[in-house]
Amino acid sequence: MMKGTVLITGASAGLGAEFARQLDGKATHFILVARRVDKLEALAETLKTPVTVIEQDLSKPGSPEQLCQTIASQGHSVDVLINNAGIAGPNLLEVSDFSTQRDFEQLMMRTVAELCSRLIPGMRERGYGRVINVASVAGRFPSSDSGNYGPAKAYVIALSEELNMGTRGSGVNVTALCPGFTHTEFHEVAGLMEAKNSSPSWIWYDAATVIREGLIGCERGRSIVISGRLYRWLDPLLRSTLFRGLLLKIAGRG
Ligand SMILES: NC(=O)c1ccc[n+]([C@@H]2O[C@H](COP(=O)([O-])OP(=O)(O)OC[C@H]3O[C@@H](n4cnc5c(N)ncnc54)[C@H](OP(=O)(O)O)[C@@H]3O)[C@@H](O)[C@H]2O)c1
Repeated sequence: MMKGTVLITGASAGLGAEFARQLDGKATHFILVARRVDKLEALAETLKTPVTVIEQDLSKPGSPEQLCQTIASQGHSVDVLINNAGIAGPNLLEVSDFSTQRDFEQLMMRTVAELCSRLIPGMRERGYGRVINVASVAGRFPSSDSGNYGPAKAYVIALSEELNMGTRGSGVNVTALCPGFTHTEFHEVAGLMEAKNSSPSWIWYDAATVIREGLIGCERGRSIVISGRLYRWLDPLLRSTLFRGLLLKIAGRG
């Protein structure tokens, strides 16, 4: 059972807000972080658990340090870290403004790693900690999306596996949660609503299912949780180069 002070990045919408709803009453304190403070405050009003809201753009270098200093200055130590904030990001082959690319890398990889680096040692000393790094099934195999997103999530998965192994026996569990397509604001923010609306409904999961499976998997000490029956079934197939090659041939891309 997750307990103590829970830090959730990207809690103003989607999966982050759902983490807060499912941990409400189990956590003793929430620290909710995002850029849209009004959304965080509106969520806080619906929760029984005491909440600290922090406005922070996590795509800026220095932001993880600043966030940890704010948390420490308020006298909190983090028991549960949920690195959830994320965006779809630019196509690597169409980037014209490299500051956008740098912001993306910071948000999706450096901030995740730095928060792990700054917060896990304290959890280990106290003998209890839970870390969920929200990755994606997109990080499990290459696609033809001219890749920023999948490779960034592949890093988060590798990092979580490594940290989970490194903290074994210390009371700290680190899990990469890999959702497939999930109903949140993500596709709207990325300008992908046309693609979303033309895709079959059976590939989409709700946020509640994803978070429930992630929380259970982390409690069980799993390094990787693939969420959704469909994606658990597809994962080994899509990780096989033979099957992927066949699929690409059928799709006319092989
Ligand atoms: N939805 C899917 O199909 C899907 C599938 C696989 C993985 N995921 C992953 O799930 C995680 C959550 O996404 P979601 O689907 O819940 O999307 P969402 O509804 O768009 O929520 C994204 C959250 O990230 C925050 N965020 C974005 N940029 C930020 C920044 N620069 N600094 C701080 N916070 C920032 C947003 O808050 P503000 O805008 O208020 O800052 C928001 O709270 C992401 O890591 C995403 O890659 C999503």
